[in-house]
Amino acid sequence: MNAYIDSAVQQFKTLLEEQLARTGRMENAAAPKDFTKLPVVTVGVIDGDGIGPIISKQTTRVLEALLKDEIAAGSIVLKPIQGLTIENRLAKGQAVPDDVLSEIMTCDVLLKGPTETPKGGTMESANVALRRALDLYANVRPVAVPDQGIDWTFFRENTEGEYVLGSRGVEIPGKLCMDFKVTTLPGTKRIARAAFEFAKNNGKTNVAIVTKANIMKKTDGRFSEICHEIAAEYPGIEAEDWYIDIMTAKLVDTRVRSRFQVFLLPNLYGDIITDEAAQLQGGVGTAGSANLGDQYAMFEAIHGSAPRMIETGRGDYANPSSLLRAAAMLLRHIARAEKAAKLEAALDSVPHDGDTAKGFADRLIQAIES
Ligand code: IPM
Ligand code: MG
Repeated sequence: MNAYIDSAVQQFKTLLEEQLARTGRMENAAAPKDFTKLPVVTVGVIDGDGIGPIISKQTTRVLEALLKDEIAAGSIVLKPIQGLTIENRLAKGQAVPDDVLSEIMTCDVLLKGPTETPKGGTMESANVALRRALDLYANVRPVAVPDQGIDWTFFRENTEGEYVLGSRGVEIPGKLCMDFKVTTLPGTKRIARAAFEFAKNNGKTNVAIVTKANIMKKTDGRFSEICHEIAAEYPGIEAEDWYIDIMTAKLVDTRVRSRFQVFLLPNLYGDIITDEAAQLQGGVGTAGSANLGDQYAMFEAIHGSAPRMIETGRGDYANPSSLLRAAAMLLRHIARAEKAAKLEAALDSVPHDGDTAKGFADRLIQAIES
């Protein structure tokens, strides 16, 4: 038993040192890149697994139609990134193989289809690995149901919490296991700032800070405190504390939910509650997701690779809406707001109707070009 304890203590020391080093890197981060002023924007397109290549292909067609002129002029480059497939990842034994990561790092922004995460084993999720490698700390997920007055934007911390050491817990076989949750000062400040800046720039007056600080006293307690410190710099914006359990209830309370505007939350709560919110909008297939960092940004569908659709031969019917919503967010991020609005208008007006991915894209392109 003592040997297990010694090795766990040693591991904890290593983790602590690594996380301290990470806070140092965050404190000394390079100045953020201005994505709105790039003379040439390279958009890496990653297909992913399962239905990924199908929805990615159709989303690319829609983007090519929208951006014809700029692609022809060379100011926007759509660059296919190969090799982020489950087969290649397993063969190389890496969540994101080194050569694929180098290719990815030649891009400014990424459009990514869903990637499969093997259950069990030690292979980490490619999403989580990419968020970490590119330091994509803000997961921004909008959900809107206009006829119910719902217009929410979630700012989910994307690099810390339960995710940062998710595959590095300790275990004493037959006895117990422990995972770790990490909240850092610079990591919390930067996500809080992102949320309050968004609120300020978009005329929002309320930010809900959602934690379980009554139970997770250290990590969530500090998360909430630090968010309030940042909130103090934004006088016109009210910062409210909520616990995650009651917030999941409030999201389905039709009497109060429309008063919420911006949500600011640690990683795992953000993961869970954004699926709930997306369901209110019509399902996870309808919501886009942005992973924003200071040097890179990645836009993706919030759903998985739907292997069952492929196994049962229904892959062609995969709905590309979520990835298309993500593509609209990408366009806004690179200051192509007009194109983003055009794509969103097409998505709002063209019903999906259970069509094939290609059929749906054809109708969207028609709407865009008309
Ligand atoms: C999400 C997904 C991912 C997450 C999975 C695929 C690792 O659920 O983007 O919300 O847990 O963050
Ligand atoms: Mg999720």
